[in-house]
Amino acid sequence: MVMFKVARVETKPYDGQKPGTSGLRKKVKVFMQAHYLENFVQATFNALSAEKVRGATLVVSGDGRYYSKEAVQVICGVTMVHRPFEGFKGGVLEAAILALDRCFEGFDREGLGPGELSLRLGPAFFRDSRACGLRGVSPVDCRVFMTLVDALSSWKGASFLIIIKMGAANGVRRIWVGQNTLLSTPAVSAVIRERVGSDGSKASGAFILTASHNPGGPHEDFGIKYNMENGGPAPEGITDRIFENTKTIKEYLIAEDLPDVDISAIGITSFSGPEGQFDVDVFDSATDYVKLMKSIFDFESIRKLLSSPKFTFCYDALHGVAGAYAKRIFVEELGAQESSLLNCVPKEDFGGGHPDPNLTYAKELVARMGLGKSSSEVEPPEFGAAADGDADRNMILGKRFFVTPSDSVAIIAANAVQAIPYFSGGLKGVARSMPTSAALDVVAKHLNLKFFEVPTGWKFFGNLMDAGLCSVCGEESFGTGSDHIREKDGIWAVLAWLSILAYKNKDNLNGEKLETVEGIVRQHWATYGRHYYTRYDYENVDAVAAKELMAYLVKLQSDLTEVNNFALAWPVESVGLDFSGDLLIKGVRSDVSNVVEADEFEYKDPVDGSISKHQGIRYLFEDGSRLVFRLSGTGSEGATIRLYIEQYEKDPTKIGRDSQDALAPLVDVALKLSKMQEFTGRSAPTVIT
Ligand code: G6P
Ligand code: ZN
Repeated sequence: MVMFKVARVETKPYDGQKPGTSGLRKKVKVFMQAHYLENFVQATFNALSAEKVRGATLVVSGDGRYYSKEAVQVICGVTMVHRPFEGFKGGVLEAAILALDRCFEGFDREGLGPGELSLRLGPAFFRDSRACGLRGVSPVDCRVFMTLVDALSSWKGASFLIIIKMGAANGVRRIWVGQNTLLSTPAVSAVIRERVGSDGSKASGAFILTASHNPGGPHEDFGIKYNMENGGPAPEGITDRIFENTKTIKEYLIAEDLPDVDISAIGITSFSGPEGQFDVDVFDSATDYVKLMKSIFDFESIRKLLSSPKFTFCYDALHGVAGAYAKRIFVEELGAQESSLLNCVPKEDFGGGHPDPNLTYAKELVARMGLGKSSSEVEPPEFGAAADGDADRNMILGKRFFVTPSDSVAIIAANAVQAIPYFSGGLKGVARSMPTSAALDVVAKHLNLKFFEVPTGWKFFGNLMDAGLCSVCGEESFGTGSDHIREKDGIWAVLAWLSILAYKNKDNLNGEKLETVEGIVRQHWATYGRHYYTRYDYENVDAVAAKELMAYLVKLQSDLTEVNNFALAWPVESVGLDFSGDLLIKGVRSDVSNVVEADEFEYKDPVDGSISKHQGIRYLFEDGSRLVFRLSGTGSEGATIRLYIEQYEKDPTKIGRDSQDALAPLVDVALKLSKMQEFTGRSAPTVIT
């Protein structure tokens, strides 16, 4: 057994290592600073009690984004051909060669003259090298090259290797790694809860390397978060402690001489350290997760649905980690055609795209489903879905039809008991985040279920689930899930929808026409009423301006009469005479009801009594409409303002409108009320969902 020693490395605190809604997310170049990641990992170890670390089994994996693996692997398999670099002078050149030498054993220097560097790169490199920003850039510019050199020289030990080495030095007994460092966030949760090691061991926590739906690559985002033994994100008590520790950290422990482990090969490698044996167990990323899914859903009935010639299916992983599961589940287990998988090869830069499953970013799927601007001649599939980078989010689409996430969770809850074996004994309760529409509330009321409204962030559902109070939950931000794990689960949501479709069509698979996604949603609206819903995102707004806007909205709440008189007056464009000759501007607009209540959402956790303040600003209208304003907790630059707009319509003759049309008056009021343009300088949102 190879021995290792423990080194104590001196370090200094970095500012701003406060974990957000879901861990620490920053630009890759921030993470690349010396000791940056090490500080955060040591701060996390120090925040956990000693027995949670010493002798523990921890999972380390993620969505495989850039900087997760050794940077060298970005360019492994490169066939070398000559490619001249320009603009390199003496010292830089030498540093570059040195770095390359260190990273590529046997790097071929042939053809290198003073003042010039010929890197030998082949077509495979240029295809795979968008992560390095090199694609289409010829000659490659110096800045880009230096990023590459930096990545290669200082990050031979990539993040997961550093965590393994720090785990060893901190007395951890075993580290479990998904093959090639890939595990979706829901799979990590499942592995913590379900996986048993060959020696009977169980994991007590995980470092998840992901920035979720944020883009990846050297100029994009990296992230890290810690999950606890229940499989859910660390609670605020722990993340606050981590943050405090990052402010005072002076040293970290690392097993510097621990040899790198080959994470592409399944198997256990054992080492020997001052505290005894240390194992790195590389295992298949999908096995445990697939097993769990099979215990929840009736795969046979979904298989029948997928084999019906009338049912067509399409899944887009946006080059995120969901691709590592899609083929196994949809193709191998459920019999879908391989051609129904789009972008299902996980990539470090998500193919240069933004791995967020919504109508703006999942362009290819949206077009295929007949929702794009240009209508395609090919008949769209009956069902389409997409996932984000770490596969916890989902978007559900029908043929030329978008299912808003707030409706999705309500529809799953309404059908779960009949359609999904895991819930056949009934639902313990349901929950949604505050900005999510009240569609779920109506279902809960009809079915007489316990109901909870929690702040944004999946961790709030975890407490309810641990206490046996909640079975199904969801968020407007494309997150849906259940108490099978403690994270939202993108593939679970797809399987839930396929189960509902299979159930609704069980006697109909040979009939004339299948019940469709759209049919199920419209039927739901007819039964429960419809919550028109939209979200406007203003991304990367100046942080000070965003804070001022929020403060202004809080201040406004003290005088609702003033709010009603000002924001609810007719829009200036419609000033003019109506049929009776009255000036329209004089009155309060009649297409929106009055604001009757406004507050800043505050939550008292019914399980542990903890209080979360400042969770979003709400304006509630007499007819049940709502406007909610929130600052995003997941961005990595500037501030993102989210505006959530909702209107309830019970009248069955009025539930079929286009949602943007139906909500236009409320949108108008929201923009005026918040002085959005005045504060942010933005005349339009970055994304509308
Ligand atoms: C992450 C969390 C979700 C949350 C979302 C909110 O995805 O896991 O639970 O809804 O962030 O993001 P935001 O950017 O609105 O804070
Ligand atoms: Zn995610």
